[in-house]
Order: sequence, then C-alpha cells, then structure tokens
Amino acid sequence: MNSFFFDNSGLPDLDRVDGKAKVTGTAEYAAEKDLPGLVYGVLVGSNVTKGTIKAIDTKAALAAPGVLAVISHVNSIKVPGYDQGGNPAKGRTGGAGLQVFNDNIIRFNGQPIALVVADTFERATHAASLVKAQYDKEAFLTDLEGARATRTPAEGPRFKDNIRGIPDAYKTAPVVLETEYFQPLEVHNPMELHATTVQWEGEKVTVWEKTQGVKSTQRSIMQAFGLPESSVQVYAHYVGGGFGSALRTWPHAIAALIGAKMVNRPLRLVLRRDQMFTLVGYRPETRQRIGLGATPDGKLVGITHEATSQTSNYETFTEGTVNISRSLYACPNVTTRYKVYPLELSTPTWMRGPGEATGAFALESALDELAYRLNIDPLELRLRNYTDTDPERNLPFSSKFLKEAYQLGADRIGWKDRNPAPRSMQQNGWLVGYGLGTGLFHASRNVAKAAARLYADGTLLVQSAVADSGPGTATAMTQIASDRMGIAPGKVTFQLGDSSLPPGPTQGGSTTTSTLGSAVFDVCRTLQQKLADLVKESPVFHTDKVHSVTLADLRFENGAIVLASDPARRITYGDALKAAGLAQLEATEESKGGDTMKNHSAFSYSVHFVKVRVHPRTGVVRTDRIVIAADAGTIVSPRQAESQMIGGAVGGLGMALTEEGVVDHRYGRWVNNNFADYHVPVHADVPPVEVLFVNKPDPLLNPTGAKGLGEIALIGFAAAMANAVHHATGKRIRSLPITPDKVL
Ligand code: MOS
Repeated sequence: MNSFFFDNSGLPDLDRVDGKAKVTGTAEYAAEKDLPGLVYGVLVGSNVTKGTIKAIDTKAALAAPGVLAVISHVNSIKVPGYDQGGNPAKGRTGGAGLQVFNDNIIRFNGQPIALVVADTFERATHAASLVKAQYDKEAFLTDLEGARATRTPAEGPRFKDNIRGIPDAYKTAPVVLETEYFQPLEVHNPMELHATTVQWEGEKVTVWEKTQGVKSTQRSIMQAFGLPESSVQVYAHYVGGGFGSALRTWPHAIAALIGAKMVNRPLRLVLRRDQMFTLVGYRPETRQRIGLGATPDGKLVGITHEATSQTSNYETFTEGTVNISRSLYACPNVTTRYKVYPLELSTPTWMRGPGEATGAFALESALDELAYRLNIDPLELRLRNYTDTDPERNLPFSSKFLKEAYQLGADRIGWKDRNPAPRSMQQNGWLVGYGLGTGLFHASRNVAKAAARLYADGTLLVQSAVADSGPGTATAMTQIASDRMGIAPGKVTFQLGDSSLPPGPTQGGSTTTSTLGSAVFDVCRTLQQKLADLVKESPVFHTDKVHSVTLADLRFENGAIVLASDPARRITYGDALKAAGLAQLEATEESKGGDTMKNHSAFSYSVHFVKVRVHPRTGVVRTDRIVIAADAGTIVSPRQAESQMIGGAVGGLGMALTEEGVVDHRYGRWVNNNFADYHVPVHADVPPVEVLFVNKPDPLLNPTGAKGLGEIALIGFAAAMANAVHHATGKRIRSLPITPDKVL
C-alpha cells in the first residue's frame, strides 16, 4: 500500500463518484446555474463569409418584447485584449483568437455579429431573428482543394520539413507503396452544449463555464478584461463532455461576459447545436500522402508522411498529424512534411487524439496495404518493425508494452483463426473482415497543485482546480488518495471545478491522471509526514528499543498509523489528531513537470482490433466486435479507464463510418450542422467493446505509474475499420467516412 508505485492490485472496482449526481439530474452544469434576475443572451451570426459590416439594424429587435440590449461592434464595450489562451500545448496556435464585437470585419460565416439580451431565452431567440445587417462582401474560399491551388500555406518553423536519414528514401526501396488519404471536417459535439453563465459584482465576475480547464478559463478572462486573479471566479463542477472543444475560451463566453456587464444583470448564454459547428472548433480536413519503402521480408526502409490541412484566416492552428510516423516504427529514414492553408472558416482546434488520430488513419492503413503487398500478416509486419527505443530522439522509452498489447488483443479477437485472404470470409450472406490499427500518443506530466485535509473523524478532503470533462478524474484521484492514506474511498472526497482551489491542470492531452495524480500522491506523502511527526513520541509505538519513530517505520492503512514491524501497534488518524488537539491536518503540494523524463521518451499505446460485416449488395458496414488492448501504464481507476476506451471506440466508429462535416463552398456555410445530418454512432451501431489493459507501471513518468489513455482510445481506430473493410471486401477505402457508396 505504501509502495512507491500506486498499487492497483487490491483496488475496489469503484463506481464513478459523481455518477449518481449525473444520472439523477442533481449535477448542475454551466447552463443550469440559476441566479436571481437572470437574463438570456442569444448570438446573431453573420450570414456572409467574408467582408465588412456596413450597417446593422437593431431597431426591430430592440422593440421586441423583453429585450434589454442588442450588442454589436457598434456599441460593445471594448475589452482590453485577449488571446483566448489556455492552450495546453503552447505555440501550436499562432495569431490572436477572434475578438468578438471588436471590429466590423467578417472572417467566417456564422461569426457572431451581435448579442441579443432579453428576459427569456425565447424572447432573445425571437429578437435575434430580427437583427439585420448589411455587408460589403468579399471573395472567399472554404475548400482546401481551392486553397491548395490558389493560396500560399502558412509559414514558420512549424512547417519545416522534418528529415531523419535520407530524404524520401522509400522511393529507392525494393518494395514501394504510395497512397493518399482523405479525412473530412469532424466536429466534437459533446452532448452538453457550450454554455456560460455570468454574474458581475462591480469589477468582480463569477463565471459558470463549460470548460476543460477552470484555471485556463480564469486566465483568459483575466487577460481579456484586464482583471487580477482575485476578481475572476470560474466554476465547472460538471462538464458534459469536451473532446477538446472546451480547451479554449471561445468568443461566445467573452460575449456573455460583455453582455452581462453592459446590462448589469446575471446572464446565461447557451450555444445552439448549429452554433456548435462554427464557434467551438473542429477537427480540420486533412489530405495525406504516405510513401512506404520496405525490403521483401517486410523491414521498413523509408517512410514519407505528408499532410495538408486547413486553418482560419486569423490564426494558424497546427497539430502533430505526421508525428506518429516518426516514432511508431523502427525505420532509419523518415521524412515528414506538413502544411496548412488559411480558409474563411473558424479556427480548427484539438479534437480527441488531435493530429495523431488523423495521422494514424493514414499510416496504419498504409501498413496494412504493405502487409498484403508483401504477403505478410499485418500484425507480423508490425512486429518486424517494432522498436524498443524512440527512433526519433534516439532515447529509451520510459516504458513500452505494445508487444504485450498486440498479444492480448490478437488472442481475444482470434486474429490467427481468420482467413487472411480478402473477401474470403462470409456469415449469413454478409462479408466478414478483421482489421487492426495501432495508436500512440505522447505521455507527459505537467505542473499541478493539490491540497488535502484530514479530519478528526477520519475523512479526507482532497482539492484541486481541475475540471473533469468525463474521464472520471474525481474517481481516479479518490482512488489514489484512498490507497495512499489507507482510507476507504467512501470517506474520501475529491473537490474540483473551482478556480479558487490550488491550481490544477487543464484536462487535455491525456495528462490529467499523470499530472494531478502526482500532486495527490505528493500531498498524501506530506500528510503522512505530518502524521508521523505528530505521533513520533507516542507510547503506542514504544518498544524496549524504539522510543521515537519516523515516517520510514510507519504504514498508513485502515484509517490508522501502523508500526510496520508490529502492526498491532496502531493509532487511528482521529486519535492522533485528538491527542494533538487538532480538528484537522492540512497539506498543499505542488508536483513539478516530468524532470525525470529528460533522457527518456514516453508514449501510451493502443491496438484496436475490429470484426466487421459488410453487406455485399448495400455496402452497409456493421461492427460485430471491438477489442482494444492498451499500454497506458498503471490503470488507476479500472472502470473509468474502461469507459474512456469505450467512448474512444464510439468516437472512432463515428470517424470511420459516419462523421463528415460538409460545407457548401458556394456560400461558405455548413450544410449538415445538426444531428439529423451529421451522423454519429447510436447504440445500435456499437457492439460491446472489449477493453484489455497491459496494466504495467511506467517507472519514470510519475509516481502513480499511469501514462494516460484519453487519446489512444481513438487513435488508430479508423484504420482498423478501413483495414477490416478491405479484408471483408477486397476494397481499399482511403477516404473517410467509409460510407456505403464508397464500399460498393
Ligand atoms: Mo483533448 S483533444 O486533449 O481534449
């Protein structure tokens, strides 16, 4: 129990600690905060795509019943400036975020041009329909193909070709494969709509926000309005999914703050579902080229991976699309190229498995194609190119158990029992196919603080200003604190979603458990030290030889301080505190980022195995089985981890089979900005997802041994599906989503 690593062997299969509140409806989300005198804001979007606003007619809206204000660039208070930061990966987005109501320039269709504030949501919605604007329109471009032909890509160090070994060496290999892949716009669309509820009191503001980072939202607001930390309070007690869409503080949130300030009333702004397609980011459309060169026995000689994607005309968004090709396989010669073109669409943002999910679709589809070209089993081909050191940085891995994950997954799905020949397997008139795809994502650890308070009744409160967008962070932290302190999980409370707590990380990049788990680990260690100090002279621990004990002599289990050499000698936490005349014992610790990692590389890995059925007449693809095996280090919270993987598989199914954002390039406007036309998987589309974890600790990244698993749940999944469809039908589909028209 007090080993350096988090010991999950005897762990209870803990329910999600906030599960009951969520399913019974008592959990309060950002759009549900009720305040006396609350008014409602509704945004009006531009219906042109590029140009300037000549005039804006708000008369009819202002005359409509219940309307308090119509705010636009004409009358908006100007906020000193903001970059809508909080970007977990600094430097990946250049330029400034859209500054709402700051000028009359239209940069994309649907850009907020006005905020209507009324006493009810319905009245605000009606009045918003009455706002009319006149524009000077300009030519625009929203399609990537058009931009590739006529525009110059964004420039800067992020777009330098990255060459290891000989450039484009694949071309000279005995076996050469060249393929191209397409992945359309995808939108996060978490179930909970983005929402902001705001209350100003003088120069102080309280914000209930849908966010993946209460501290990052607080910083963005401080920056935007020029306020000190003490004047901005952010709450996000419950978050109904984010997938990356809630990593930034978007213009609608700033608009809500402006609106509340101008009408001097608490205000709530909830985006409509159609606005979720234009105002909170999306996964960018990406075209990729893969060149693979191999020896006849399947050794990779060269990989070239090129990606072309999009950004907005006011920011340069980039992601690590091609990086997976630099680190997944042993290969001496790797060339990657990456370009983005500005378009008149809003800025893309990180969406689950950002970059790698896109890149893995291409690389892992190409590997499968190469395997068939070489007549080598696709899994065997991967094992022949397995690497035990990071080929990109020439460093050892902190841990890598991908081989074990391959084995677990292959055994479970029955990989070796399939007939590998394409279109060889059938079942009740359907074609049957098996496919696999590998995923990898950088594992890291950042700075975080946690506070802990042990009470005389033996309960423990742990706190950090983190937001939980769904993975079950409060449960995982409860597990860690419970294990470290030897306190039953039911007596541990983890408090989050409040910017006034000790600063926690933004929930992004699969780092929360690694980052915050370290802080919780450390703060428990400090509590133990304080307890040891309290009882060091206690007669309970006295023996003939020992008159004073130190931390090293003690264990912390079953709510008590126990003498390791004689467990019958024990003092409950309550007794220890009472004897010292204390009602509680407190500690706060900051865990630094991963200094131990200078000489190692760290990644989490996943392997997705799927079994599909394809109907030969209709081209419909049904998913029969999904097996995901992962090396994510120690699994801290088994049930939440399994749920994360299931969620990733569902996202992967959407990416593979249904999701496709369509923009009408004549108007620059989204066509399918609703759930009727933008298709996500429903329950009937998802078979039971079988999740397997290697569950071996990473010895270096952090004391919990966990690496992270939010992103790898999705990365590689779409390739597994495309490969399975090929196995079933003999047809390679290199363009997502895999819809029946492409299958036939
Ligand atoms: Mo995730 S794209 O790091 O929320």
